[in-house]
Amino acid sequence: MTVAADIHLPPIAPGRRPIIGHAIPLIKDRLAFLQAMRAHGPLVRVAVGPKALLLVNSPELIHELLTSRSNQTTKGLLFEKLKIFGADALPVAEGAHHRNRRRLIQPAFHRAKIETYVEAMRTTVQTAIDAWPNGAILDMKTEMQVITQGVVMSAAFSSNPDPALAREILGSVDLVFRAALQRALLPVAALERLPTRHNRRVVDASRTLRTAVGKIITDHRAHPDAYDDVVSLLLAARDETGASLPDDDILSEVTGLLAAGSETTAVVLAWLFHELGQSPDLEHQLHDEVDAVLAGNPPTADHLPRLGFTRRLVKETLRLYSPAWLVTRQASSDLGLGDFTVPAGTDLIWSPYTLHRDPALFADPERFDPDRWLEERPQPPRGAFIPFGTGKRQCLGDGFAWTEATLATALIASRWRLRPTDSATVRPIGEITVHPSQLHMTTQARHVQPRGTA
Ligand code: HEM
Repeated sequence: MTVAADIHLPPIAPGRRPIIGHAIPLIKDRLAFLQAMRAHGPLVRVAVGPKALLLVNSPELIHELLTSRSNQTTKGLLFEKLKIFGADALPVAEGAHHRNRRRLIQPAFHRAKIETYVEAMRTTVQTAIDAWPNGAILDMKTEMQVITQGVVMSAAFSSNPDPALAREILGSVDLVFRAALQRALLPVAALERLPTRHNRRVVDASRTLRTAVGKIITDHRAHPDAYDDVVSLLLAARDETGASLPDDDILSEVTGLLAAGSETTAVVLAWLFHELGQSPDLEHQLHDEVDAVLAGNPPTADHLPRLGFTRRLVKETLRLYSPAWLVTRQASSDLGLGDFTVPAGTDLIWSPYTLHRDPALFADPERFDPDRWLEERPQPPRGAFIPFGTGKRQCLGDGFAWTEATLATALIASRWRLRPTDSATVRPIGEITVHPSQLHMTTQARHVQPRGTA
């Protein structure tokens, strides 16, 4: 950030070291570091090596940044690096291209359309949880990723890859995400181009993904009348000149949705069951609700509004364990933010995770309390709860994620108790999402299953 002498600067975060700036606390425990920075005001400067980042803390300024100032920003450092998934895909696209693409893809995520995905979601979750043996120890993050990746692929792309390919896709998405975050936190472009083993693995992972997605697209082209999903929508799309989208763009969009939609919902489910494992009382309430509403039937879209407690559990998990901990922007021109003028070229960051744990916005913020969302309880101020962001870049899949998380929670709880197995403390780790340090849980069948699997 180069700053004109007359510009009034926000405070610099304490603990800056010469040359490396705040790199050590950021590497050691980035979530704790960002959380601690909330005490230093609505805007705080953080140094990563020679680079200065502007951390936006207050809900008012975050709202301003994401709405009225959104035309003066690009998506910034992290999303630049996420272009490995596809340079022009919706989550990383800019300007008019982003606007047009969003308009085009949006119908596939309208509420009425999402209701049509419920059956595919249910079948995918059911198949995955039916395969769990009773007494098995599950690695929760991986298991939930298998489920949520399967849900995106079946509901949005009508694709059900075999388990080996599904794991390969999962591994590739993970690797590319990790590389993108590392490159964003240590932005030395030359290192990315070196022919190291790691860089070659990232290229291979990206190729694996695009090959798998390419096969889905080929299949849709061969059977144009067989599908009514996101891929068929992209294939049928025409621009203002009547031309269809380039193949490479379709590939990028589908890959981008797969990446954006899988890990986020997976970590929400992992955290939710972790909290239930700590609280038999909450678990009972969930079982009571699920048993009463579903009454042994497979859940449908009609059941979802009646699963009030289940939805509160999902909402509280989205608050306390917001998957996104780092959202970036870059000022494309000088922009006013509160009392400050942010010079063009400045990198800005904000964190849904730390915002949602601010004691000034949420009473007893570290406590997992789904009932804080009951209407009769005092609600947090406007803009304080934004797990999906806000403004023109708000998550396109928020409705999809709500439906999926509610349905998966109800389905899993109707069939299994997941019991904690680890004696070690489960800590939140900020990678591309906030995931549990390690979380293993044991399956315990709730009802005897006619198929004899339990
Ligand atoms: C709990 C689950 C999820 C969370 C917490 C989440 C969170 C977010 C956030 C915070 C953003 C905005 C980033 C920004 O402002 O720069 C975003 C964007 C996006 N998300 Fe999600 N997401 C979730 C699930 C999904 C799902 C299931 C899909 C699709 C199947 C999806 C697709 C997208 C897309 C396409 C964008 C880019 C939108 C745009 O730039 O116009 N997300 N998500």
